[in-house]
Amino acid sequence: MNVSSIVADPLDVETDLLCYITSSRSSSDVYGLKSVDISSIAERCVDDLNGRLGVIVTSTTLLNSTPRLLFAGSGSSMNPDTLRDVAGTISKRAQELGVKQFAIVCPDVQDHHSAASQIVEGCMLALYDFDAYKAEKADPRPDLTIICRHDIKKTVRMAKLTAEGVIYTRNISNQPPNECTPARLAEFAEVISQNKKVECTILAGSDLTEGGFGGINAVGQGSANTPRLIILEYKGGSGPPIALVGKAVTFDTGGISIKPGERMDEMKFDKCGGCTVLGTIKTISEMNLPINVVGLIPSVENMPGGQSYRPGDIIRLYGGKTTEIVNTDAEGRLILADALAYAEEQFSPRCMIDLATLTGACIIALGCDTAGMISDNDELASDVCQSGIRTAENVWRLPLNPDYMEMIKSKVADIRNLVPGRAAGTIAAAAFLKSAIKETPWLHLDIAGTAWMQPPSKKRSYNKSGATGFGVRLLLDYLQNSTH
Ligand code: BES
Ligand code: MN
Ligand code: ZN
Repeated sequence: MNVSSIVADPLDVETDLLCYITSSRSSSDVYGLKSVDISSIAERCVDDLNGRLGVIVTSTTLLNSTPRLLFAGSGSSMNPDTLRDVAGTISKRAQELGVKQFAIVCPDVQDHHSAASQIVEGCMLALYDFDAYKAEKADPRPDLTIICRHDIKKTVRMAKLTAEGVIYTRNISNQPPNECTPARLAEFAEVISQNKKVECTILAGSDLTEGGFGGINAVGQGSANTPRLIILEYKGGSGPPIALVGKAVTFDTGGISIKPGERMDEMKFDKCGGCTVLGTIKTISEMNLPINVVGLIPSVENMPGGQSYRPGDIIRLYGGKTTEIVNTDAEGRLILADALAYAEEQFSPRCMIDLATLTGACIIALGCDTAGMISDNDELASDVCQSGIRTAENVWRLPLNPDYMEMIKSKVADIRNLVPGRAAGTIAAAAFLKSAIKETPWLHLDIAGTAWMQPPSKKRSYNKSGATGFGVRLLLDYLQNSTH
């Protein structure tokens, strides 16, 4: 999608559809609308609109040389997501109207850069459509111009890259599991490493079996689609990297502890954590950020079969700890434990952030609009929380005191992959991850509820059905602010 910005009087801009976002109840303070010709139309539109959130009014009478006008309400109180959501609604209307191009007047708010970013993201993400497998393609996407009093070129460029990163992540997350195997994900990573600052290493086969990756091997051994550990190193700065680790189970049947059939198709989204890491590394390389980041994506398919691992097995994780397998459906923590331990040993990162569709319990606790966050480092937790607020990818911290570490002790091995009962399922999974790490500050995001649209996800104009790309905006915000 084409996106540009211009510093101009709105009425001097050539456009097919001139869009205003307003909380006003009268047109007098709508920037740029002083022209006598259209003031009466504007007044009627804004009256009808009455400032209501998400409501759109378009002018029906078209004056000869005047562009079509569109007014969208932003409601009376704005939050960090309002403009993204309203802009998304506008862009869909522009697409429906069939215009080739539309312009949005950046509303007169304090922070023009944040407003412009939200508008670009909202428009681009709302027009996203996963139509790769459909004969009938989405309608063409109109070009967007943002009209602003200030120069926002760089902001628009970064916002566009951000939105493209989210779209990339959605695209690979939405791939069906018959196409998107661990090997295919590795191919996506290799494409990303065409950027000069990105290096890609794929561990497979004997690299994994002889390398001691007991978790990845155990989970992957039941599938003909063999596992991979995908490693992407982005070198744009100096000093130890930040490690991003993402769970990529390309399909989670549950294995021998097989899941019930209902909605099992959605377990193609069990790779979303890994897809978010791929999209984030791709985008920081395009943004050329002055930092070092390493992404690690353990990827497996969790299938039942004659070769599968079983409940009762005892396996040795990377780094040497043994774990009792109580349930083969608690597979994410096994592959992540390997990847986290390897990341710490291999890269001595300054911190590690992992993302995983790890527990259904997280949906029970927080619903589908907030990710669970667990960390052993208050500063890291606070920074990520702030990024979550700024990007409207909200997280909520859950505790992990030493008491919780007791839960995962096993009678026959060092730890077990499942705790009896249903108490604190999200924290128990995090405790398992924590036990794989020696001393590196670590933060875990459970994105089981937020990675794709599922009931009761809140409707947002810019989130279609399917994968949301959750975490890309959050991580990019965090990484852009981590260059101190
Ligand atoms: N991938 C699932 C978690 C999940 C379930 C995410 C539903 C989103 C929606 C994970 O591998 C899993 O199966 N977790 C189990 C853990 C249990 C066996 C301890 C779960 O949440 O039921
Ligand atoms: Mn599972
Ligand atoms: Zn899973």
